[in-house]
Amino acid sequence: MAESEAPRATENRSTTPVSSTFKQYISEHWAERADALPQPREQAPFAAARRAAISALHPGKRLIIPAGAAKTRSNDTDYAYRAHSAFAHLTGWGSDSVAGSVLVLEPTPDGHDATLYFREAAGRDSDEFYANPEIGEFWTGPRPSLAHVAADLGLATRELGALGAVIEAVDADTVILRDGDRDLTDQVDGRRLLAADTESLETDADAELARNLSELRLVKDAYEIRQMRLAVAATKQGFDDVIADLGEITAHPRGERLVEGTFNRRARAEGNTVGYDTIAASGPHACILHWTRNDGPVAAGDLILVDAGIELDSLYTADITRTLPVGGTFTEVQRRVYEAVREAADAAFAIVRPGIRFRQIHETAMAVIARRTAEWGLLPVSAEESLDPAQQYHRRYMVHGTSHHLGIDVHDCAQARRELYLEGELEAGMVFTIEPGLYFQPDDLTVPEEYRGIGVRIEDNILVTESGAENLSIAIPRTADEVEAWLARNGRAG
Ligand code: GLY
Ligand code: MN
Ligand code: MN
Repeated sequence: MAESEAPRATENRSTTPVSSTFKQYISEHWAERADALPQPREQAPFAAARRAAISALHPGKRLIIPAGAAKTRSNDTDYAYRAHSAFAHLTGWGSDSVAGSVLVLEPTPDGHDATLYFREAAGRDSDEFYANPEIGEFWTGPRPSLAHVAADLGLATRELGALGAVIEAVDADTVILRDGDRDLTDQVDGRRLLAADTESLETDADAELARNLSELRLVKDAYEIRQMRLAVAATKQGFDDVIADLGEITAHPRGERLVEGTFNRRARAEGNTVGYDTIAASGPHACILHWTRNDGPVAAGDLILVDAGIELDSLYTADITRTLPVGGTFTEVQRRVYEAVREAADAAFAIVRPGIRFRQIHETAMAVIARRTAEWGLLPVSAEESLDPAQQYHRRYMVHGTSHHLGIDVHDCAQARRELYLEGELEAGMVFTIEPGLYFQPDDLTVPEEYRGIGVRIEDNILVTESGAENLSIAIPRTADEVEAWLARNGRAG
């Protein structure tokens, strides 16, 4: 029987029989389960190498990396469970992670011993399996055994109840990933305050762990690169589906919702889910950078900006944007804007190779954006003057950055230091987006009327190679001509 105390739903509407006859009856006559142990999953040796890397950075420290609890959506319903990204990275456990699990790296003279604590399958000797709607097997499905997960992930496992002894042992040399699990962090903080006999806690070592875990993901290993390719390929299918459904989409008053639904159906079928809320932004909605309300129509004369990415079971996600002329062809001004954005993306991609600085990608894209908007007479100064850090008029039309790292999180490596991120040098194995855009708000009096309400973003997922770069999403049509041909193949009038 599981040692850890399991959560319970409120009792006020429970109809579970309480008679001892029932309890006895439901506990008996279940077949033995054959639990054939799996071979270690493909990611297991990669996760072991990542644990070794983090171990080397924190000698002599007990490291606690929680997966986190399920998050409440409302009342007694939760969001779909998603483990903390650092936990997933160090364990290789993805969408099949058990909520509330904790990875502990216990220091040894020559490194650390890793143990994964989780709530294993409850036996028939407990009433959890039928009476607990939150985690009971009859309610939410079976959980794996300790032996199964140990074999699957190549990691020592222990029942979650045994974590109590780890908490008891917490001392000043214990470090926790604070945003993994707030409740557990509070417990650890309490123990550390006691151990140090003080009222104020020093959390610098915790911040250093969070930073190191984030920086560990800046360069992807071979497994991660394979996953990114798969995520992009699945995402391409989602975009193809959206285009195939455009007839139905334009006929519906909430066409943007259908775009989201079509893409998300593909995401659920091919992977785990979407890596972030799908942006389906038609017409002027495309000027709202993170338009996820998606409740507008999709009209034939509009451009629709679709920013979407499929997250695989491993939790790696793509992050891709295409902007499509719904009727099949760009108007002259739509094409002008579109091709300027593409030129910015192509110019940025062209400089990517190991050794350049991450921020140069953005600077290169911005030089094109400044040049084109100046050429169209939109800026009060020349492109060169606008590019002066003290001026930046062109940024009115693209207020976001051009690139971010991508991986288990859509905005990956978010705690990495600026000197390794924006100011960092590119290395082979890094994966990031290049996503310039131009957004002319419908009420922007600085632009001629024909530009107003046009929003364009083109977003690709880029892998740095030893000699340069590879656009992982190049197979998704991206030039204006390719996009029109893609739509024409799907029956949109050319
Ligand atoms: N989908 C959010 C972004 O492109 O960063
Ligand atoms: Mn992005
Ligand atoms: Mn995006």
